[in-house]
Amino acid sequence: MIVTLTANPSLDRAVTLAEPLRPGEVQTAQSVREDAGGKGINVTRVLLGSGQDSVAVLPLDADDQFAVVLRAAGVPLRPVAAHGAARANLTIADPSGVTTKINLPGVTRSREDGDALIAAVAAAAAGARWLVLAGSLPPGLPDDFYVDVIRAVRANADAPRIAVDTSGAALRAVVAAGAPDLIKPNDDELVELTGAPLDASIPLPQAVAAAGRALVPDRVGAAFVTLGGAGAVLVTPDGAWQGTPPPTRVRSTVGAGDSSLAGFLLAEASGGEPEECLRSGIRYGSAAAALPGTQAPTPADLLPGDVPVSALTH
Ligand SMILES: Nc1ncnc2c1ncn2[C@@H]1O[C@H](COP(=O)(O)OP(=O)(O)OP(=O)(O)O)[C@@H](O)[C@H]1O
Ligand SMILES: [Mg+2]
Repeated sequence: MIVTLTANPSLDRAVTLAEPLRPGEVQTAQSVREDAGGKGINVTRVLLGSGQDSVAVLPLDADDQFAVVLRAAGVPLRPVAAHGAARANLTIADPSGVTTKINLPGVTRSREDGDALIAAVAAAAAGARWLVLAGSLPPGLPDDFYVDVIRAVRANADAPRIAVDTSGAALRAVVAAGAPDLIKPNDDELVELTGAPLDASIPLPQAVAAAGRALVPDRVGAAFVTLGGAGAVLVTPDGAWQGTPPPTRVRSTVGAGDSSLAGFLLAEASGGEPEECLRSGIRYGSAAAALPGTQAPTPADLLPGDVPVSALTH
């Protein structure tokens, strides 16, 4: 079992227009699509598609439209009752490909909301193999909320290993004080985390590995750093590796990072060596990039090309 936490889910609403957007006017949309968004939910979706048991923990107001959309997605849930609508992200696309995005603020969560989430995660995670803490924190919860989650989860005897995919202050706090087993930043998030630019005098994977070695194993158990079209780097206490994607016709990179984390954990859960976990992470990320929209890749969507992995030495 792999449990995910999405503390700040979103209702993603995509409106398609048959004509250019005209601010100030009334226009009729051609179509609208609503998806339940949020990184932990995405990870759970990909895991389930590959036959790995997973459940998503998240705050949910039963009266929120988000609840309807989420239930339609068929994801196993441990909803934590909370008041107020999830944040919504509105995308307006016109026929020429111009996209306007409006991100609506979400409800502010109270300390009690946070405590209820922590209790639910700790209960759901007991006996699981991994707990994934994914995405941003909603307004109202402190930057070190994930540290509090980890402490509560590890107070149980059969605590899972903990993977974190977040950014900014929440990532800094969890690395400073939470000792996560795995982090999955991209290169920008890694630079923001360490506060130092990557060494531009050496190739990107080497520079990323050097930055990763400063964190592993003192601060984090391992770092799986994704590099978009350049693949990914894995740093563990035993070594560092880089891998490059198979030939990929990119359609939408939305959700690629979530899919790569899911792919990594799938390989880990079936006993894969580090190289195999890295390769699987890249495969799932690239499969997501080749699919339209936020569609979650299944094993049938994995691209056939090679994913070369090589060790990085100092
Ligand atoms: N242009 C691309 N071509 C091939 N594969 C890609 C491309 N972009 C992303 N991927 C695959 O997806 C993985 C994750 O991508 P990326 O590093 O962009 O994640 P991210 O920045 O965390 O994204 P997210 O917005 O989902 O958080 C990469 O390691 C790679 O395997
Ligand atoms: Mg990401």
